[in-house]
Amino acid sequence: MDEAMKYATIKNTDIKVTRIGFGCANFGGIGSDPRLVGKGDSEDDAHKILDKAYNFGINCFDTAATYGNGKSEEILGRWIKRNKLARKDVHISSKVSKKSRGLFWSSKGLSKGYILKQIEVSLKRLQLEYLDIFYIHAPDPATPIVEILGALNECVKKGLTKAIGISNVTLEYLKESIQISKNKSWAEYTVVQNSYNYLKRNDENDVIPYCKNYGILYVGYGPLAGGILTGKYQAGRAYPENTRLNLRESLYRTYLTRENMQKIDELKEIAGKRNMKLPVLMYEWLYKNESIDSFLVAPRTPEQFQSLRDALEDNILSR
Ligand SMILES: NC(=O)c1ccc[n+]([C@@H]2O[C@H](COP(=O)([O-])OP(=O)(O)OC[C@H]3O[C@@H](n4cnc5c(N)ncnc54)[C@H](OP(=O)(O)O)[C@@H]3O)[C@@H](O)[C@H]2O)c1
Repeated sequence: MDEAMKYATIKNTDIKVTRIGFGCANFGGIGSDPRLVGKGDSEDDAHKILDKAYNFGINCFDTAATYGNGKSEEILGRWIKRNKLARKDVHISSKVSKKSRGLFWSSKGLSKGYILKQIEVSLKRLQLEYLDIFYIHAPDPATPIVEILGALNECVKKGLTKAIGISNVTLEYLKESIQISKNKSWAEYTVVQNSYNYLKRNDENDVIPYCKNYGILYVGYGPLAGGILTGKYQAGRAYPENTRLNLRESLYRTYLTRENMQKIDELKEIAGKRNMKLPVLMYEWLYKNESIDSFLVAPRTPEQFQSLRDALEDNILSR
């Protein structure tokens, strides 16, 4: 499997990430929602899924200070330690968010002091000396861009992260940030992590072409739109218990349009004709999609992981 998995390189580094990364937002909680801490995968289940992902050839793992209120970072850190993984063999990204509920609160969003403290907190939880990518979880309009970039530049200079990235970013904010870093001769964003899937493709018009032009790694998150692109939700029917939509509907409501539900029906038909399940088709679509460099998958159970295996082994990598 490993030889067949494709890689993407992060500019100005020796980091080669697999085109499929593993998202750890289901560990210890469900994403960044403080009300759902304790509802995510247990440590045991998380470690089993991580073993599967690693043995499958995936080499990059994405977490955030807010996932499970820090539990995701801790669970990932203990997994690396338990398996005695060489640091060079895994690429770890984490994120600082003004919403972080860790040790530090910030009245000013992403102030320099807050960012510099928060990376130390993340590294401690992960039991690591450095991150491969340190992301700003989302732009913070309350903090001047130059202050955020100054803090990130210091993180790079101190060796706390190899690369810096930004998530949930618009083209305008990204362009301004890159320009400021260039003017100051500071470390620049070399990774962007935005939402991208078959139903959410607006970045194709602006952010993705810009990233291509500047050699910025584009990482797509939410490949199955939080599970909607598995076809398991049906219009007018209650969401199954303990599913993403059952727990966090507000985040996904905008996907649930009549037009999207119709598209999902069409996709199901295409998948059916090819004798495959919808998530398999969606993973295949992303893997073949050259406009994105890497995407983050997050199957929550071994059964869900099978879709990824089916997609890659049977439909893509074997060709
Ligand atoms: N930067 C950001 O703001 C941001 C935001 C979101 C995500 N991310 C990153 O991207 C990663 C992936 O995002 P995501 O969790 O939204 O990915 P996703 O693949 O769109 O959704 C994952 C969910 O889909 C469902 N699922 C997966 N495979 C399935 C299958 N075969 N059959 C049925 N259901 C299946 C599961 O839902 P159930 O839980 O309902 O079973 C699972 O929790 C995250 O872990 C995180 O690292 C970043």
